[in-house]
Amino acid sequence: MSSEPRREAVTAATLRPMHEFDVPVVAALERAGYQFPWSEGIFRDCLRVGYICRVIDVGATMAGYGIMSVGAGEAHILNVCIRGEFRRLGLARRMMTHLIERARGCGMREAFLEVRPSNTVASHLYASLGFQQVGTRRGYYQAANGREDAAVLRLILNFDPN
Ligand SMILES: CC(C)(COP(=O)(O)OP(=O)(O)OC[C@H]1O[C@@H](n2cnc3c(N)ncnc32)[C@H](O)[C@@H]1OP(=O)(O)O)[C@@H](O)C(=O)NCCC(=O)NCCS
Repeated sequence: MSSEPRREAVTAATLRPMHEFDVPVVAALERAGYQFPWSEGIFRDCLRVGYICRVIDVGATMAGYGIMSVGAGEAHILNVCIRGEFRRLGLARRMMTHLIERARGCGMREAFLEVRPSNTVASHLYASLGFQQVGTRRGYYQAANGREDAAVLRLILNFDPN
């Protein structure tokens, strides 16, 4: 698709809950998006335990997905991935904004996520949404040459004076 139709398609993008029948497509996007992808089983577990699992559709094409857990005042954004040909059109920002608003609506005070410091694209996105680094998890990620640290990022959602 050339860039203008793509852009138009994106204005019609819709967010909806992920279902069990979406998992094979989600897992295919995951394998295309990451060197060390989650398995289908992990996505099924996310659905089973009631995590907030969303997909973003552009027409009949699933363009991406996002997964978040909420509890004890904290939201954890666990995965956001956009199909290669639909990147750089604002879809991840839209998914992130949706998840953040959802976390706020659930009364969560803070949202956390982990990112590989080498993932500059995602790091730019999160910084532009106001996430700030609050820690490092040493050797958190599998990497081609062993392990890679994770940067732990936080966004304050609701100020709690107590
Ligand atoms: C990271 C990812 C989700 C971004 O998706 P996207 O839909 O292309 O992102 P958006 O179009 O919403 O861009 C939002 C912001 O991200 C940053 N960004 C996106 N693409 C970028 C690029 N190629 N270079 C630098 N920054 C970039 C920018 O800050 C951008 O905002 P701007 O367009 O206003 O400048 C996508 O590249 C992806 O799925 N990557 C593989 C999976 C992954 O790494 N997920 C994150 C794991 S922590």
